[in-house]
Amino acid sequence: MSEKIAPADTCVLVTGGAGFIGSHTVVELLSGGYKVVVVDDLSNASRKVFDRIKTIVGDDAAANLTFYEADVNDRPALTKIFDEHHPDRVIHFAGFKAVGESVSKPIEYYSNNIGNTLTLVDVMREHGCKSIIFSSSATVYGDPDSLPLTEESPKKMATNPYGWTKWMIEQILTDLHTADPEWNVVLLRYFNPIGAHPSGLMGEDPKGIPNNLVPYVAQTAIGKRDAVHVFGNDYDTPDGTGVRDYIHVVDLATGHVAALAWMNGRQGVEIFNLGTGTGTSVLQIIEAFSKACGHEIPYVIEARRPGDVTANYADCSKARDLMGWEAKFNIEDMCRDSWNWQSHNPNGYEG
Ligand code: WQD
Repeated sequence: MSEKIAPADTCVLVTGGAGFIGSHTVVELLSGGYKVVVVDDLSNASRKVFDRIKTIVGDDAAANLTFYEADVNDRPALTKIFDEHHPDRVIHFAGFKAVGESVSKPIEYYSNNIGNTLTLVDVMREHGCKSIIFSSSATVYGDPDSLPLTEESPKKMATNPYGWTKWMIEQILTDLHTADPEWNVVLLRYFNPIGAHPSGLMGEDPKGIPNNLVPYVAQTAIGKRDAVHVFGNDYDTPDGTGVRDYIHVVDLATGHVAALAWMNGRQGVEIFNLGTGTGTSVLQIIEAFSKACGHEIPYVIEARRPGDVTANYADCSKARDLMGWEAKFNIEDMCRDSWNWQSHNPNGYEG
């Protein structure tokens, strides 16, 4: 049984804590009174996010934050950090996440995402830290047989190396608990995280052409892109475009704080869906974003994107019943906050 500890006495090591979901989670952890150690190699994030975090949480809470620029796969560096801070819990976000890129760079994706997880859990084990929350994805459900998706819905074959890394890391962490039941593993399956911090100080900062819908819509709204390419309007959905369960990144962040509180003093493996339970189509997103930014957003209909599923959305009753967590923001809130971030930071953190 892992020891039950109060937030003020809990050191949480956050890998990938400078990234989109990581940075929002760090804000909620600091606001919740936790001590936070971030390990991030800044390969897809900016150091400037830490100034923004400090502005949001204030000096007192920010004093509980330590940042190390290091690769999680750098065992000597990670060992030193564990020696120094003796983290009680780990939230593991660090990983490559571009689906298309993973198809052309499978070795890099497997080596980075799986390699860093193996290094991380080995160093955790050496230091007697056996509590981990892993950033998984609804991608493990593949093309669903029925909706909404519950945690009991079957895992399906992944359609790309990125998806396989999520799939396999879930298995690795489950096997770890089988071998040593003292491990305390929470697998959080995110649906589609969008939005930005309501302050307008933090948000998604994709490098190059965005792969995901909402960052692309946001860049079209600001005039950086000519039109949104809608990938297919012949799906079996109300308007023919793909349906997803979009979740505000702040709701996702509070989901991690809820998971930390829930796992406190437990051991086992538990899976939670983090979504809103509501499906929204591509055209509904474009419409909601047009309202948020105050002008029409041009779009063109294109062919389907290979590997895309028709629709997915979550049943989130398990997270509500066990952890007392529920998403609070709706699509209008998500688009408003994305637009607030995009319009005030047209070039992201480097702007
Ligand atoms: C959403 C909808 C597209 C872009 C992916 C990963 C998943 C997770 C989140 C990432 C679909 C349509 C998109 C565009 C479009 N992990 N679309 N034009 O594919 O549901 O999930 O991102 O880190 O694992 O698979 O998200 O935002 O790419 O697409 O029409 O330019 O928007 O076809 O219906 P997806 P998405």
